[in-house]
Amino acid sequence: MAEVKSRKDDHIKICLKRDVQARGTSTWLEHVWLIHSAVPAADYEAIELRTSFLGHEFSAPIVVSAITGGTKLGASLNAAIAEAVEELGLGMGVGSQRAALEDPGVASTFKVARERAPTAFIMANIGYSEVARGLPLSKLEELVSMIEANALAIHLNPLQEVVQAEGKPGGQAFLDRLAEITDHLGVPVVVKEVGSGISAEVARELERRGVAAVDVAGAGGTSWAAVEHYRALKAHDELRARLGQTFWDWGIPTAASVLEVACTTSLSVIASGGLRTGLDIAKCLALGADLAGLAWPVLREAIKGPKAVKWLLEALMEELRATLFITGCKRLADLRSKPVVLTGPLAEWVRARGLDIRRRSQRPLGLGS
Ligand SMILES: Cc1cc2nc3c(=O)[nH]c(=O)nc-3n(C[C@H](O)[C@H](O)[C@H](O)COP(=O)(O)O)c2cc1C
Repeated sequence: MAEVKSRKDDHIKICLKRDVQARGTSTWLEHVWLIHSAVPAADYEAIELRTSFLGHEFSAPIVVSAITGGTKLGASLNAAIAEAVEELGLGMGVGSQRAALEDPGVASTFKVARERAPTAFIMANIGYSEVARGLPLSKLEELVSMIEANALAIHLNPLQEVVQAEGKPGGQAFLDRLAEITDHLGVPVVVKEVGSGISAEVARELERRGVAAVDVAGAGGTSWAAVEHYRALKAHDELRARLGQTFWDWGIPTAASVLEVACTTSLSVIASGGLRTGLDIAKCLALGADLAGLAWPVLREAIKGPKAVKWLLEALMEELRATLFITGCKRLADLRSKPVVLTGPLAEWVRARGLDIRRRSQRPLGLGS
């Protein structure tokens, strides 16, 4: 139990001090071209960023991805993020709540998110390996009620489970339990990756089992193989350090993963993994995503406090508004019907995978049960 908590703080410290970003690949968003419109469709101030996601109103399509909880440091980061998203009308996920199941004494480090963000969209969080190993539905309900969550996110992190010394890399048992969970849990279930992306095949399996939304968390941003590489180096575990190096850049680049899910399912889609600007967010929405998530850039601000988080989120909103303005859009939904040009490896990927990118423009933006 103490081990889970200190591991969570290790992760934060490594993410803040070491270079844990993808290095040999990218999100491939540089291969997505939106077309400049020299005549804007609306005055800048009239551009509308509002949207809805899983029945909740957002002032802009931005959510802070799951990061932390379980420790004193986690509590202060959750508080900073929650204050900022509440003020701006955005959303957030808390980090894995496993520590609170094992030690109810740390529930407050997650609850602080709801206390500081009474009206914002907040997602509860647990790993797929806990679900695979039989965590009962009543415990999942406990995670949701702990923070009065609007949705439960279950994270898929098979690569991290392999590289991490304490990992428990489970298989199909997670899928076997999923339909029962989506049927009976009182809130929508979101399934997310943590930096290696979701394929069309996996997305279809999730859709069949009643999942409401997928957060692709594709490759090109924070690499969990990298984070665990550094932990293994410190523990003098040469094999795991090597595994972390080998799989540092493993995964489906974010732009490809958004298309994989958006062009083959009706799932709501959160784009994340390496998104760093409002322009990145706009490109993902044009590819078919409904919301965009960021973790690492927010972590670096949250350590300074709520004002710094708010500044970053406002900058992202401004960049998103600017992108709508110069692509001739009045509102977010217009991005879907504008042409996009895909080049380089992303274009090859779309061809090789037989993805019909016209489907992105047939998707209504921001709907969902
Ligand atoms: C310090 C840190 C801790 C994280 N902990 C969790 C977690 O507990 N649960 C989870 O689903 N994802 C977790 N993530 C993954 C993020 O939610 C996100 O999917 C991933 O970092 C990719 O986004 P990024 O490139 O913007 O960082 C964590 C990320 C960071 C940086």
